[in-house]
Amino acid sequence: MNSFAFIIHPIDPKRDVARKYPVLGKVLPEAAIHFFSRFWPPLKLSRVTGARSAATGAEAEGWILAVPYTSRRMLSLPPKEVYRKIIAAGELAQSLGAQILGLGAYTSVIGDGGVTIARELDIAVTSGDSYTASVAVDATREAARQMGLDIGATTLAIVGASGAIGGVVAQLFAPSVAQLLLVGRQPARLEGLVAKLAAAGHHNVTLSTQVADIRQAEVVMTVTSSGGNLVQPDMLRRGAVVCDVSRPRDVSWAVSRARDDVLVIDGGLVRVPGTIDFGFDYGLPPDLTYGCFAETIALALEGRYEDYSIGRELSVAQVQEMAALTAKHGFSLAALRSFERKLDESLIQQVKARATSAT
Ligand SMILES: NC(=O)c1ccc[n+]([C@@H]2O[C@H](COP(=O)([O-])OP(=O)(O)OC[C@H]3O[C@@H](n4cnc5c(N)ncnc54)[C@H](OP(=O)(O)O)[C@@H]3O)[C@@H](O)[C@H]2O)c1
Repeated sequence: MNSFAFIIHPIDPKRDVARKYPVLGKVLPEAAIHFFSRFWPPLKLSRVTGARSAATGAEAEGWILAVPYTSRRMLSLPPKEVYRKIIAAGELAQSLGAQILGLGAYTSVIGDGGVTIARELDIAVTSGDSYTASVAVDATREAARQMGLDIGATTLAIVGASGAIGGVVAQLFAPSVAQLLLVGRQPARLEGLVAKLAAAGHHNVTLSTQVADIRQAEVVMTVTSSGGNLVQPDMLRRGAVVCDVSRPRDVSWAVSRARDDVLVIDGGLVRVPGTIDFGFDYGLPPDLTYGCFAETIALALEGRYEDYSIGRELSVAQVQEMAALTAKHGFSLAALRSFERKLDESLIQQVKARATSAT
């Protein structure tokens, strides 16, 4: 049997701890959860069954493991200390019999994008970022289409463009948008990407270190490791389409309350082929998962036990290969969701109406 393991960690401390330990999640204050998360060992959360390739009939099973660091804890600790716990979770995966390990959320963000962790483990490791990038691009295009935007005529902003997903997404979008705005913290990193895009013939690119500059863009993808709440209601243009790939989410919940004229979608959600049972509620509908988890399962269904999507430089070819591999096995983009709720046609029509009514 093909087998995999996938590591998750608490993102919303109280809510996520309560998923496994309802009493602790209820009684412990958030600050205590951040504090204690440093001392908790990695643990097995569930057995995952039922993934089945639509093409070959191959099946895969696995485990969800938890590294009990919160995102804030991981950002504040020395990377070496974070690595130690992720590697311990990887060793747990190995002892369970997993042949490939997926690094969820910040477990691939901290440090060098999974390079050290992959080196320290005997099994294959993926960050899942290639398929995440692929489905985020598809979801953004679909959301723009549903909002009646011609993406080829838009300015598209990528917040976190200097990162692994942001950098490759910029390369994927560059040929098909009017203008690309790359937003990040470090101009030197953004300039490297601008030069790469120029070498590929794309000169329609500007850069900024101010997140508020996304007000220029009709379409925004945000994919940072900022720790959340980077995008506030006053930063968005009327009628904007925003794909939030980041976990914790970059787009503040205040946007959902204050801006009923913009469409924010949760990026990178996927339907898994077969009759998948994750055995643990990590906050999505039972048959959906994140692109990074789906990539891990797809590599297991393919029996391709090699490191994938590791490091900060993802290539367009890698993303396209993963898109083809996942499509072959029957993975597909899930129906669009916004702030954890499914988006139906009437909701999108309401957003569209509000976006146009006050202009
Ligand atoms: N939805 C999914 O399926 C899925 C799957 C995988 C990952 N993710 C999420 O996607 C995000 C990015 O992942 P990644 O692997 O691409 O990480 P990454 O390679 O570490 O890139 C993150 C980028 O965000 C930038 N950044 C951090 N804070 C910022 C700020 N305040 N303003 C502007 N840029 C900022 C960083 O800039 P510097 O270069 O200056 O450090 C870095 O370049 C994470 O939140 C991760 O949890 C989601």
